[in-house]
Amino acid sequence: MKLFDVYPLFDINIVKGKGCQVWDEEGTQYLDLYGGHAVISIGHAHQHYVQKISEQVATLGFYSNSVINKLQEQLAERLGKICGYDDYQLFLINSGAEANENALKLASFYNGRTRVLAAEKAFHGRTSLAVEATHNPKIIAPINANGHVTYLPLNDLSAWKTEIEKGDVCAVIIECIQGVGGIRMVTKQFLEGLSELCDKYNTVLICDEIQCGYGRSGKFFAHQHLGVKPDMITVAKGIANGFPMGGLLISPKFEPIYGQLGTTFGGNHLACSAALAVIDVMEKEDLVENAAKVGDYLMAELKKFPQIKEVRGRGLMIGLEFEEPIKEIRTRLLKEQHVFTGVSGTNVIRLLPPLCLSMDEANDFLNRFRKLFA
Ligand SMILES: Cc1ncc(COP(=O)(O)O)c(C=O)c1O
Repeated sequence: MKLFDVYPLFDINIVKGKGCQVWDEEGTQYLDLYGGHAVISIGHAHQHYVQKISEQVATLGFYSNSVINKLQEQLAERLGKICGYDDYQLFLINSGAEANENALKLASFYNGRTRVLAAEKAFHGRTSLAVEATHNPKIIAPINANGHVTYLPLNDLSAWKTEIEKGDVCAVIIECIQGVGGIRMVTKQFLEGLSELCDKYNTVLICDEIQCGYGRSGKFFAHQHLGVKPDMITVAKGIANGFPMGGLLISPKFEPIYGQLGTTFGGNHLACSAALAVIDVMEKEDLVENAAKVGDYLMAELKKFPQIKEVRGRGLMIGLEFEEPIKEIRTRLLKEQHVFTGVSGTNVIRLLPPLCLSMDEANDFLNRFRKLFA
């Protein structure tokens, strides 16, 4: 059997990782400023993480959601504390798309409505409603194009107000820093206005923190820079440092009903032990603070490059917009300088390193980046 060929691949086989470094099968070492698409939060092959999941799989890897799972309870408690949402409720699934899918479903159960507002350039995943809320017609199959979603310009509050005031909007879903959309930031004024409107018209406000959350922005959640509390928060990617997992944080105003949501694999023992190990390391190594510190430094230094048109972002979620397409720069970074980076559209390079990136590694990146223009 052949693989279903949907990914345009770099011709590199990564076989090993440690911290912010990865190695290919020939032993070439790369600096990882991509984090496997913002997934590696505490660093590759962290010793504590390896130990915790090894112990768990040797004890009990999986049992179903029909019995008590104390690891889920521990995770809910620890996550509630570290992110400042003690009073919220946690539902666990396996991916980001599933988190958004369940958030939209719960919102619709809650207010009985079916209309969703999403931002232009938004990315919310590739399944049913999550892909419909994604502003990219190329990945919405006819079966997913069911007319639930209206896309509106980011930060244009009056456009969102006009729609919400109609009184039929089920949910607003928003990334406070758009990832795939090119590191575009929501303003405080916009999110505050949106939150007030949602409260007034009984519309559910969902912050998709799948890429910008879990410490990446230099606060636990990107929306916490903007002083607003959403009704639901979706997480995935960094939550378990590469073990597939997603989560939905749900405000106390939503009452759980038996059977309304469910999953076979979500919140399994192995996933929970991975997520608990991530929180252990985030706390012990102050990774949220590190993301803020190293991110601020990187952004200040990158702003000095005349070749870059604009540097955007927060913490270790940084976009470098160029006048011209970045394909060649990105390929040279990888092939000549051995640095992995991400991309958005044609003109933006995305930096999404593990949150443990050190100042030395940041300087190492800046030196390698400088060499491209020497
Ligand atoms: C903001 C955002 N939401 C949702 C998703 C979908 O997550 P997953 O690929 O785990 O389904 C992604 C993935 O890149 C994302 O960046």
